[in-house]
Amino acid sequence: MHLLVIHGPNLNLLGEREPEIYGRATLAELNERITDAARELGATVECVQHNGEGEIIDAIHAARVRCDGIVINPGAYSHYSYAIADAISSVNVPVVEVHLSNIAAREAHRRVSVTAASCVGSVSGFGPESYVLALRALAKKAEK
Ligand code: DQA
Repeated sequence: MHLLVIHGPNLNLLGEREPEIYGRATLAELNERITDAARELGATVECVQHNGEGEIIDAIHAARVRCDGIVINPGAYSHYSYAIADAISSVNVPVVEVHLSNIAAREAHRRVSVTAASCVGSVSGFGPESYVLALRALAKKAEK
Protein backbone atom coordinates (compact mmCIF):
# COMPACT_ATOMS: atom_id res chain seq x y z
CA MET A 1 0.00 0.00 0.00
CA HIS A 2 1.43 3.34 -1.06
CA LEU A 3 0.06 6.49 0.58
CA LEU A 4 0.57 10.19 -0.14
CA VAL A 5 0.58 12.95 2.47
CA ILE A 6 0.02 16.47 1.12
CA HIS A 7 0.86 19.39 3.39
CA GLY A 8 -0.66 22.66 2.21
CA PRO A 9 0.37 26.31 2.43
CA ASN A 10 2.56 27.64 5.24
CA LEU A 11 3.15 24.19 6.71
CA ASN A 12 6.77 24.42 5.53
CA LEU A 13 7.17 26.87 8.43
CA LEU A 14 6.02 24.42 11.10
CA GLY A 15 8.07 24.78 14.27
CA GLU A 16 8.50 28.52 13.87
CA ARG A 17 4.97 29.45 12.75
CA GLU A 18 2.66 30.28 15.68
CA PRO A 19 4.05 27.44 17.85
CA GLU A 20 1.41 28.05 20.52
CA ILE A 21 -1.15 26.84 17.94
CA TYR A 22 0.78 24.45 15.71
CA GLY A 23 3.45 23.15 18.08
CA ARG A 24 7.25 23.13 17.94
CA ALA A 25 7.77 20.14 15.64
CA THR A 26 9.22 21.03 12.25
CA LEU A 27 7.82 19.67 9.00
CA ALA A 28 10.83 17.32 8.75
CA GLU A 29 10.10 15.96 12.24
CA LEU A 30 6.41 15.58 11.42
CA ASN A 31 7.30 13.70 8.23
CA GLU A 32 9.54 11.34 10.23
CA ARG A 33 6.63 10.58 12.53
CA ILE A 34 4.38 9.98 9.51
CA THR A 35 6.94 7.67 7.90
CA ASP A 36 7.28 5.63 11.14
CA ALA A 37 3.49 5.35 11.44
CA ALA A 38 3.15 4.20 7.83
CA ARG A 39 5.90 1.60 8.32
CA GLU A 40 4.04 0.23 11.36
CA LEU A 41 0.95 -0.10 9.16
CA GLY A 42 2.95 -1.97 6.52
CA ALA A 43 2.59 0.89 4.06
CA THR A 44 4.97 3.19 2.24
CA VAL A 45 4.38 6.92 2.29
CA GLU A 46 5.49 9.93 0.33
CA CYS A 47 5.19 13.39 1.92
CA VAL A 48 4.98 16.58 -0.15
CA GLN A 49 4.35 20.21 0.74
CA HIS A 50 2.94 22.84 -1.63
CA ASN A 51 2.03 26.45 -1.03
CA GLY A 52 0.11 26.82 -4.28
CA GLU A 53 -3.45 25.68 -4.91
CA GLY A 54 -2.63 24.47 -8.44
CA GLU A 55 0.32 22.40 -7.21
CA ILE A 56 -1.92 20.71 -4.65
CA ILE A 57 -4.50 19.94 -7.35
CA ASP A 58 -1.77 18.53 -9.62
CA ALA A 59 -0.51 16.32 -6.75
CA ILE A 60 -4.03 14.96 -6.16
CA HIS A 61 -4.46 14.21 -9.88
CA ALA A 62 -1.08 12.48 -10.12
CA ALA A 63 -1.83 10.35 -7.05
CA ARG A 64 -4.93 8.80 -8.64
CA VAL A 65 -2.81 6.33 -10.61
CA ARG A 66 0.10 5.93 -8.18
CA CYS A 67 -1.36 5.89 -4.66
CA ASP A 68 -3.88 3.89 -2.68
CA GLY A 69 -4.90 6.80 -0.47
CA ILE A 70 -4.17 10.43 0.37
CA VAL A 71 -3.92 12.31 3.66
CA ILE A 72 -4.23 16.04 3.07
CA ASN A 73 -3.87 19.12 5.24
CA PRO A 74 -5.08 21.82 2.86
CA GLY A 75 -4.24 24.57 5.40
CA ALA A 76 -6.27 27.74 4.81
CA TYR A 77 -7.46 26.40 1.44
CA SER A 78 -9.72 24.10 3.46
CA HIS A 79 -11.93 27.04 4.20
CA TYR A 80 -12.57 28.27 0.66
CA SER A 81 -11.03 26.17 -2.12
CA TYR A 82 -13.81 24.61 -4.17
CA ALA A 83 -11.12 23.76 -6.74
CA ILE A 84 -9.31 21.48 -4.25
CA ALA A 85 -12.69 20.07 -3.12
CA ASP A 86 -13.48 19.24 -6.77
CA ALA A 87 -10.03 17.66 -7.29
CA ILE A 88 -10.61 15.38 -4.28
CA SER A 89 -14.06 14.45 -5.63
CA SER A 90 -12.56 13.78 -9.07
CA VAL A 91 -10.18 11.00 -8.04
CA ASN A 92 -11.06 7.46 -7.19
CA VAL A 93 -8.76 7.15 -4.14
CA PRO A 94 -9.84 7.70 -0.53
CA VAL A 95 -8.75 11.04 0.93
CA VAL A 96 -8.67 11.92 4.65
CA GLU A 97 -8.39 15.57 5.72
CA VAL A 98 -6.27 16.48 8.74
CA HIS A 99 -5.67 19.57 10.81
CA LEU A 100 -3.12 20.05 13.57
CA SER A 101 -5.38 22.48 15.42
CA ASN A 102 -9.03 21.95 16.27
CA ILE A 103 -10.56 24.10 13.54
CA ALA A 104 -14.01 23.76 15.15
CA ALA A 105 -12.74 25.70 18.18
CA ARG A 106 -11.05 28.54 16.29
CA GLU A 107 -12.06 31.76 14.49
CA ALA A 108 -15.39 31.67 12.59
CA HIS A 109 -13.68 31.57 9.17
CA ARG A 110 -11.82 28.38 10.15
CA ARG A 111 -14.83 26.50 11.45
CA VAL A 112 -16.01 25.50 7.99
CA SER A 113 -14.03 23.19 5.73
CA VAL A 114 -15.33 23.08 2.16
CA THR A 115 -12.79 20.38 1.29
CA ALA A 116 -13.70 17.97 4.11
CA ALA A 117 -17.05 17.18 2.48
CA SER A 118 -15.20 15.62 -0.47
CA CYS A 119 -13.14 13.39 1.85
CA VAL A 120 -14.00 10.04 3.42
CA GLY A 121 -13.39 11.61 6.85
CA SER A 122 -11.39 14.18 8.78
CA VAL A 123 -9.24 14.40 11.91
CA SER A 124 -8.66 17.72 13.63
CA GLY A 125 -7.07 18.96 16.81
CA PHE A 126 -4.49 16.35 17.81
CA GLY A 127 -1.32 18.01 16.54
CA PRO A 128 1.02 15.56 14.73
CA GLU A 129 -1.13 12.71 16.06
CA SER A 130 -3.91 13.88 13.68
CA TYR A 131 -1.78 12.54 10.81
CA VAL A 132 -1.12 9.22 12.55
CA LEU A 133 -4.84 8.72 13.22
CA ALA A 134 -5.66 9.66 9.62
CA LEU A 135 -3.09 7.20 8.25
CA ARG A 136 -4.58 4.40 10.35
CA ALA A 137 -8.09 5.16 9.15
CA LEU A 138 -6.91 5.50 5.57
CA ALA A 139 -4.99 2.21 5.62
CA LYS A 140 -8.21 0.44 6.67
CA LYS A 141 -10.25 2.17 3.95
CA ALA A 142 -7.65 1.64 1.25
CA GLU A 143 -7.30 -2.10 1.86
CA LYS A 144 -11.04 -2.68 1.27
C1 DQA B 1 -4.53 24.15 9.70
C2 DQA B 1 -5.71 25.05 10.12
C3 DQA B 1 -5.97 26.12 9.07
O1 DQA B 1 -7.04 26.95 9.49
C4 DQA B 1 -4.73 26.98 8.89
O2 DQA B 1 -4.95 27.92 7.86
C5 DQA B 1 -3.51 26.18 8.63
C6 DQA B 1 -3.29 24.98 9.43
C7 DQA B 1 -4.18 23.13 10.81
O3 DQA B 1 -3.48 22.17 10.49
O4 DQA B 1 -4.57 23.30 11.97
O5 DQA B 1 -2.67 26.54 7.82
O6 DQA B 1 -4.89 23.43 8.54
